[in-house]
Amino acid sequence: LAAIEVNVSSVAAGQSITAKWRGKPVFIRQRTPEEVEAAKQVPLADLKDPVARNENLASDADATDANRTAKGKEQWLVMVGVCTHLGCIPLGQSGPFNGWFCPCHGSAYDTAGRIRQGPAPQNMAIPPFEFISDTTVRIG
Ligand code: FES
Repeated sequence: LAAIEVNVSSVAAGQSITAKWRGKPVFIRQRTPEEVEAAKQVPLADLKDPVARNENLASDADATDANRTAKGKEQWLVMVGVCTHLGCIPLGQSGPFNGWFCPCHGSAYDTAGRIRQGPAPQNMAIPPFEFISDTTVRIG
């Protein structure tokens, strides 16, 4: 299926846009330095799902904050915006971990989109993506 290219030049720190790829929403968020720092501070042992779920990395890569992002572009989170429980679309910048919160059954994700609380079993998926320029992301 076709890749998409998304211009993110209008997305400031603390803002997000939602693209559509393969019929699914993809959240593209430029995280604030505070959000990145909060995600980095989380010990891996605290994570419910210890695996990065990043299609750009090996399937057993750790779910560190860096492994949820692209090298050199760590402030950007590019993530399939589908709850890994039963597929609802989580709300951004809400919930107890200040990341995403799924109102369907209460799954809470952190600022790296990692599952921290509730019934969802996995971190939200990172699709294949790359920055092809400073302001353009190709997904797929
Ligand atoms: Fe998100 Fe159930 S679908 S918590």
